[in-house]
Amino acid sequence: MPNYSNILLLMCFFLFLIFPSITAKTTLSPKALLLPVTKVTKTVQYLTKIHQRTPLVPVKLTLDLGGQFLWVDCEQGYVSSSYKPVPCSTAKCSLSRSSSCIVECYSSPKPGCNNNTCGLIPDNTVTSTSTSGELTEDVVSIQSTNGRNPGKVVSVSKFLFTCSSGTTTSLLKGLASGVKGMAGLGRTNISLPSQFSSAFSFHRKFAICLSSSTRSNGVVFFGDGPYVLLPNFDASTYLIYTPLILNHVSTASSYFLGDPSTDYFIGVKSLKINGNNVPLNASLLSINKQGIGGTKISTVNPYSVMETSIYNALIKAFSKELANVPRVAHVAPFGLCYNSTGLGGTRVGPAVPAIDLVLQSSDVYWRIFGANSMVQVTNDVLCLGFVDGGSKPRTSIVIGGHQLEDNLLQFDLATSRLGFSSSLLFHQTTCSNFNFTSNA
Ligand SMILES: *[C@@H]1O[C@H](CO)[C@@H](O)[C@H](O)[C@H]1NC(C)=O
Ligand SMILES: *[C@@H]1O[C@H](CO)[C@@H](O)[C@H](O)[C@H]1NC(C)=O
Ligand SMILES: *[C@@H]1O[C@H](CO)[C@@H](O)[C@H](O)[C@H]1NC(C)=O
Ligand SMILES: *[C@@H]1O[C@H](CO)[C@@H](O)[C@H](O)[C@H]1NC(C)=O
Ligand SMILES: *[C@@H]1O[C@H](CO)[C@@H](O)[C@H](O)[C@H]1NC(C)=O
Repeated sequence: MPNYSNILLLMCFFLFLIFPSITAKTTLSPKALLLPVTKVTKTVQYLTKIHQRTPLVPVKLTLDLGGQFLWVDCEQGYVSSSYKPVPCSTAKCSLSRSSSCIVECYSSPKPGCNNNTCGLIPDNTVTSTSTSGELTEDVVSIQSTNGRNPGKVVSVSKFLFTCSSGTTTSLLKGLASGVKGMAGLGRTNISLPSQFSSAFSFHRKFAICLSSSTRSNGVVFFGDGPYVLLPNFDASTYLIYTPLILNHVSTASSYFLGDPSTDYFIGVKSLKINGNNVPLNASLLSINKQGIGGTKISTVNPYSVMETSIYNALIKAFSKELANVPRVAHVAPFGLCYNSTGLGGTRVGPAVPAIDLVLQSSDVYWRIFGANSMVQVTNDVLCLGFVDGGSKPRTSIVIGGHQLEDNLLQFDLATSRLGFSSSLLFHQTTCSNFNFTSNA
């Protein structure tokens, strides 16, 4: 006969032991968070919205994958009882890698202008303009997620961001209408992914999934998968991995000497079209000592940008593979356009040759299909959605928004690697298929 009273006692003990810790965990620590992402076509930007300040207000922001931090314009309308500038020579100031101190601001104290405050350089990466700003903390609230639906709203009481002010022309110039700043997801310890993962002790991973549609939202996940898209497709289980590369020289519009780049670079070794190698100057594909060259990923460039000789080689090889389709006069900013009535369709967009970005070995490549390579310019004109970046760009290849849409990209900051899905259309889903109905 088993001793039931002992078992009961043991069960009570377990209930007592396990139950409080489980409830504490689920109520206090979400495993992942999310932000919706809206595409706006007028400027081709990807926007998101956070809730910030006391009382909380929605703040519209342009998503900046390589951006250093969250920055908002504090010149107008920053009202919050919990706003707190970060003083110089503090742990938070050094976490931000600031190397300047705003000793005195010649005005009455206000958000963006306080004495003895940690100084940073907010960067409008759309227009490549920057100004000075102060490191600040305030409340940010955001929805948690189980990877399938949004859950409860959680908040971070001392979220670090940069307040820009004191400029005659607003740093917001060039950003979409209603936008108040930029949400930087870049390689720093104060970017949104870094702060969220340290605030809630979850994996230092995040994922972006940009919608190609202006009518339904894409999503950014902070934390590990699942990343489930309807109908029940977990994109985190279909990823191909490649190392993320650190560029030791900043690619920001202004920076302090010695600052590394906060952009995410990957090691593209060659390009192939229809499986055929595109001849190009391979030295442009690596990053030199001055930080020039290489391939980065960007959400602020609507289309991929390539150094002139790479661009020309791509156009030449692509048009050779698609010689049977009638070309039409090209439409700026594109250099190669076709009459779309001559092109068939596939599940992954117009039937055109696949473009492969070959990575660490010949069997690891990011394949770009018609939906991501071609842009519908008018009813019957389709253009190759890559643009000429000139002969001396800082970065040789910038993979832009159009090439990222309906692809899920996961950035693992702890192991410094990128997971990419290639086109989700292959799996009969898209980035606009996250179920935004809350289950909180
Ligand atoms: C940022 O975080 C990384 C990893 O946790 C750490 O190695 C590095 O020292 C930190 N940098 C700063 C400036 O705090
Ligand atoms: C900064 O300090 C100076 C001198 O102490 C003072 O006149 C000024 O009002 C202060 N400004 C701010 C923004 O606190
Ligand atoms: C290849 O690119 C490098 C870096 O821009 C340049 O120095 C070199 O002259 C180029 N080589 C050729 C053959 O064009
Ligand atoms: C595309 O081809 C169709 C059918 O041949 C023709 O009617 C149309 O004018 C062409 N469009 C352009 C932009 O050349
Ligand atoms: C979306 O999520 C809600 C809440 O969990 C659920 O009731 C609904 O059925 C889901 N929608 C679809 C299309 O699965």
